[in-house]
Amino acid sequence: MGSMDDHPRKPTHTRNCTTRSNLKIVLLLVSTNLVSIFFFSGVGSSALRAKWWGGYAPSIHLWDSEALLRELNATKFELSKYQSESFELHKRLGVANSLLQTLLTDMGRTQSAQLAQWADGWAREPTAELKLAVGPHKLPLGYTANLGADELYPTLGTACRRFQDELEQYMRYDVGGECPPDDVFAQRLMLKGCEPLPRRRCHPKTARGYVEPVPFPASLWTIPPDTSIVWDAYTCKNYSCLVNRNKEKGSYDCKDCFDLAGREKDRWLREIGELDFGIDDVLRTRRPGTVRIGLDIGGGTATWAARMRERNVTVVTSSMNFDGPFNSFIASRGLVPMHISVAHRLPFFDNTLDIVHSMHVLSNWIPDVMLEFALYDIFRVLRPGGLFWLDHFFCVGDQMNATYVPMFDRIGFRRLRWNAGRKLDRGIEKNEWYLSALLEKPMT
Ligand SMILES: *[C@@H]1O[C@H](CO)[C@@H](O)[C@H](O)[C@H]1NC(C)=O
Ligand SMILES: *[C@@H]1O[C@H](CO)[C@@H](O)[C@H](O)[C@H]1NC(C)=O
Ligand SMILES: *[C@@H]1O[C@H](CO)[C@@H](O)[C@H](O)[C@H]1NC(C)=O
Ligand SMILES: *[C@@H]1O[C@H](CO)[C@@H](O)[C@H](O)[C@H]1NC(C)=O
Repeated sequence: MGSMDDHPRKPTHTRNCTTRSNLKIVLLLVSTNLVSIFFFSGVGSSALRAKWWGGYAPSIHLWDSEALLRELNATKFELSKYQSESFELHKRLGVANSLLQTLLTDMGRTQSAQLAQWADGWAREPTAELKLAVGPHKLPLGYTANLGADELYPTLGTACRRFQDELEQYMRYDVGGECPPDDVFAQRLMLKGCEPLPRRRCHPKTARGYVEPVPFPASLWTIPPDTSIVWDAYTCKNYSCLVNRNKEKGSYDCKDCFDLAGREKDRWLREIGELDFGIDDVLRTRRPGTVRIGLDIGGGTATWAARMRERNVTVVTSSMNFDGPFNSFIASRGLVPMHISVAHRLPFFDNTLDIVHSMHVLSNWIPDVMLEFALYDIFRVLRPGGLFWLDHFFCVGDQMNATYVPMFDRIGFRRLRWNAGRKLDRGIEKNEWYLSALLEKPMT
């Protein structure tokens, strides 16, 4: 809340002021027009008439026609004087009116420019820390050709403005202090498309009794000490709880991933059936040493990256913390975690990576258009000749041939391996399918 005091809510004030002065102007317009109406409508004339009959009513002497004419002439003169004064007044009112109208239009324009500056999809004008996070900010050295502008906007997910209430709650924090313990809430905002998040000026809570990680390469297969992280956001409060999760009932994301001595130990080491490719078999499709850098999308605890690391391939693993400290765990293994969702445009440049892998993440839960975005993005970041290992893509029945096969073909990958197989764990009648494929970005 301290941040509120740091940055006075000037724009809100300005806006109220503008509204108030606009109201005044409207009242002024209405009243001047009433005056005109008064003068030039029946009301005005009858007032004049009343005046005529009152103040200037001549005393009529029928016997003195000359005097009568004089009186009439005098009255006519008076009347014409009033008339010309009235016309003058009318003219001035007209000028005043048009001036006011111009003024009002100008003010309206200024106000709508102000509105446009923050409206921009926001329900209310962003204030305080959120306003800073939204920008724009003037560049201290002025225009720069790199930006083609003299101001810049901090990067912020466009969907943020759809969740302004939640975002305002998220942005209520002590600038310079400790970030509120709201990881789950924050990650939900991200997953709804408010990514990247706008909070930039607090210190994350750190674990009490933090101990340095185990040295590499032992770190790759070591469960870190419980004191290495903050457990607030998770159901489990220690690693043995997470390791034992595979024996628990209930569905958890990547349920057996933390058990490094269990199933994780053998993953990708051998070809198993049609759907489980072996890492070495995949690497053998390229000249030795030419697969050097890569990305694992939704890589759980990064065992794929660990196996790649053992083969001298550097892999970044994107992972969300779904009721588990996935990112922290990956980091303590000595691997690079990246906290971005599958909706995020991949933060790599075109034609750069040698390999991209993804297992159990890309599947039919993703809206078709967004899946296509993700696939095109993978194609984009892969270098020519780069590999996309699509591991256990999941879908149901006709979706495979009706939707996904055409989609994969559309992206432009070349098929090196392509195996579709039934997923049988929930029964054959469910008609669930897996696809494992090794795709190549063509050289030309
Ligand atoms: C009427 O009054 C005007 C101004 O007082 C005068 O110039 C004019 O001669 C008068 N006309 C008659 C017919 O008296
Ligand atoms: C870990 O947490 C579980 C509950 O989540 C608890 O039962 C267990 O005793 C804890 N183990 C250690 C070693 O702290
Ligand atoms: C990885 O690189 C190291 C150092 O260059 C080398 O000694 C080792 O043999 C390499 N490992 C593999 C699997 O290529
Ligand atoms: C998709 O089409 C191929 C060939 O046209 C066919 O062999 C396969 O069974 C179909 N797959 C599904 C899941 O329907």
